[in-house]
Amino acid sequence: MRCLSSKKFRFADAACLLLCLTFVGVWFVTFASAQATAPSSPAPGTVLDTPPSGMSGDMVAQPVTQPATPALAAQIARGKYLAVAGDCQYCHTTPGGAPYAGGVPLQTPFGDLFSPNITPDKADGIGTYTDAQFWNVMHNGISPGNSLLVFPRYLYPVMPWQDYNKLSYNDVMALKAYLDSITPVAQKNRETEMSFPFTMRAGLLAWRLLYFNRTPIQYNPSWTQQQRNGAYLVQALEHCAECHSQRNLLMAVEPSTTLAGGKILSQSWYAPNISSSKTDGVGGWSPNALYQYLAQGGAVGNGAPYGPMKAVVEDSLSRLPASDVQDIVAYLQTASHARDNPPAPPAMADATAGGAQVYADNCARCHGANGQGVTNNFPNLAQNPSISNGPADNLISMVLGGFTPWHQAQSGMPEFNQSLSDQQIAALSNFIRTSWGNQGQPNVTPADVAADRALASDWVNLSTGNTRARVAGQMVKDISGTLELYGDRANCTLDEHLTTSSGMDVHIVGACAQNGASLRGTLTLNGQASTETFRLGQQRSGNAVTGLVLYGALGSAGPKFDTKIALIPPTA
Ligand code: HEC
Ligand code: HEC
Ligand code: HEC
Repeated sequence: MRCLSSKKFRFADAACLLLCLTFVGVWFVTFASAQATAPSSPAPGTVLDTPPSGMSGDMVAQPVTQPATPALAAQIARGKYLAVAGDCQYCHTTPGGAPYAGGVPLQTPFGDLFSPNITPDKADGIGTYTDAQFWNVMHNGISPGNSLLVFPRYLYPVMPWQDYNKLSYNDVMALKAYLDSITPVAQKNRETEMSFPFTMRAGLLAWRLLYFNRTPIQYNPSWTQQQRNGAYLVQALEHCAECHSQRNLLMAVEPSTTLAGGKILSQSWYAPNISSSKTDGVGGWSPNALYQYLAQGGAVGNGAPYGPMKAVVEDSLSRLPASDVQDIVAYLQTASHARDNPPAPPAMADATAGGAQVYADNCARCHGANGQGVTNNFPNLAQNPSISNGPADNLISMVLGGFTPWHQAQSGMPEFNQSLSDQQIAALSNFIRTSWGNQGQPNVTPADVAADRALASDWVNLSTGNTRARVAGQMVKDISGTLELYGDRANCTLDEHLTTSSGMDVHIVGACAQNGASLRGTLTLNGQASTETFRLGQQRSGNAVTGLVLYGALGSAGPKFDTKIALIPPTA
C-alpha cells in the first residue's frame, strides 16, 4: 500500500488507517451551464426552488406535509433555506433520483462510500430519529446505532459534520423539521464498498480525538452584521474550507491554511486561495466581480466557476438571496485568513515550446486567439487567476475532461484526453499560464499532466477486456463488447449485452434521465439485477454533437469506466 511505503510514515497501519478514513473524495457530477444571464434573487431567508435562468441543477425538494402550526411552517421554511445553503441535496440525491434518498457514490482511494437515505421513511430513512439523535449526527458526526457493538457509529468526515458542528441548535432542528416534511422514500442504503480495515468505523475514534475541532466561529467584535452572517454561511453551512484548504498528513484540514487553497484529495482539481490576500486570494477582486462569480456564474474578465466549483454555485450559491452572497463577499474579502500560497516551483527553460501551436489548433476557435473569451459562451483564459495562481491542475483537468453542458443549447468544451499527449498539454499549460497578462509560472511538467490524467479519467476501454466489477456481491473480470445508444440526447435508450471472459452475460438496459445528462437503468449479471446511474458525456466535432460517452461503473465496486459509445439517430 502506497502510504505505508512512504518514509514519512513510521506509525504504520494505524496511521494509514486514519489517513484513509479521512479522505474527502467527492464524486462531483458537474453538469452545468454557461454564465447566467438575468440575475434573479429570492427574498431574504428564502431560496430559488429551480436554478436561475442559464444554470442547471435539481429542483429543491418541497415539503409535502401540512404543518400543524404557523410556527412549524416557519421552522420548515427556515430548514429548507438552510438545506440549500448547506448543499445537502447535492450529496444526498443521485442524478435523476428521488430527492434525499441517498446512494450518491463519494469516491475515496479505498473504495466508495454511499450517501445515506435521509428522507423521513421510517424503515430506510431517518424517520425515526429523535431530536437528540439528529443533533448528534449534525453536531458530533455520530449516527444512532453501534459499531463493533461498543463503539458509537461514527460517521466518516466525507459528510462535512465538522462544519455543521458550528450550526446553532435551532438551525439543526429547523433542518430536521424540513427533512421530516418531505416525501419519504423507501430506498435501502448501500453498504460502503471500502475494503477492510477502512470499513471499521471504530477506527475513526482516533482521528476524531486528533482532529475534531469543536471551536465555534470566532466572531471578531469589530465585524459588521454582514460579515457575521457571511462567516456563518461560509464556515457553518457552505463548508468552503473543506475544499479550499490544505490537508495534513492525516488528511485533516490544516487550520493555518483555511481558505488559503489546496488540492482536493483523490481528484485532479485544485481549489485556489480565496482568503483576503490581495495577491493570491480574492482580496484584489472587485466586490462586484466576486459577487457575480459566486451568485451568477461569473462574467467575462474573471473566468467562470468550473469543475467542482460549478455545482457549488448552481446548487447552492445562485439560489440564495443576493444579500447572503454579498455577505459572503464581505466576509471573504476582509475577515478571512490571508496566508499566501507556498512559492511555486521554479520555471523551466523551454517549457512552452510548441504550446502556442497546440493552443491555436485546439483552443483558439472558442477562447479566442488571445484568450479573450466570448461573453456568455466561452470564458476568458487571459488574466484568469484560477489557471495562473497556484498549481495548474484546473487548467490540465479542463483540457483532459472538457465540459458537458446540461442543455444542448449551451456551450460545451471537448475533452482532449485522447488527442493531446502529456508533453503537449504541459507545453500548452505553460504557454497559457504565461501569456496575455497571466502571471503564472511555466513549471508544468509532463509528469504533472500524467498524475492528473490518472485521477481525472480512470479510462478503461471496454473492448480491451480488462474491466473488473462487482455486481450483487460477485467479482467479474474481462468484460467486453460495445455499447450503442439509440435516440437523441434528451430521449435515448440503451439495451446491450456485454460478455465477461468466463462467458457471463452483462445486460445493461436504461434510458436517458435529466435531459440527457445521465442514463438510469438496470444492470443484470447472471440473472442478478442492480439499479445504476451512469453519467453521459458529449463527444463533439466542432460545435456539433457527434456521439456520447458513458461514464460509470459496472456494478459498483469495479474501476469506473469511461467509454465512447455510438449515438444512433432515432430514424436509423
Ligand atoms: C459532501 C457530501 C455531503 C454533504 C454536503 C452532506 N452530506 Fe450528509 N452525509 C454524507 C455522507 C457520505 C454520509 C454518510 C457518512 C457515513 O456513512 O459515515 C452522510 C450522513 C448524513 C446523515 C446520517 C444518516 C444516518 O444514516 O444516520 C444525516 C442525517 C445527514 N447526512 C444529513 C445531512 C444534511 C442535513 C446536510 C446538509 C446540511 C448534509 N447531510 C450534507 C454526505 C454529505
Ligand atoms: C468548443 C469550444 C471550446 C474549445 C475548442 C475549448 N474550450 Fe475551453 N471552455 C469552453 C467552454 C464552453 C467553457 C466553460 C465551461 C464551464 O462552464 O464549466 C470552457 C472553459 C475552459 C476553462 C475554464 C476557465 C474558466 O474560468 O471557467 C479552461 C481553463 C479552458 N476552457 C481551457 C481550454 C483549452 C486549454 C482549450 C484547448 C485545448 C479549450 N479550452 C478548448 C469551450 C471550449
Ligand atoms: C467541492 C469543493 C469546493 C467547495 C465546497 C467550494 N469550492 Fe470554490 N472552488 C473549487 C475549485 C476546484 C475551484 C477552481 C475552479 C474554478 O475556478 O472555478 C474553485 C474556485 C473558487 C473561486 C475562484 C478563485 C479564483 O482564483 O479564480 C472562488 C472565488 C471560490 N471558489 C469561492 C468559494 C466559496 C465562497 C465557497 C463556499 C461558499 C466555495 N468556493 C466552495 C472547489 C470548491
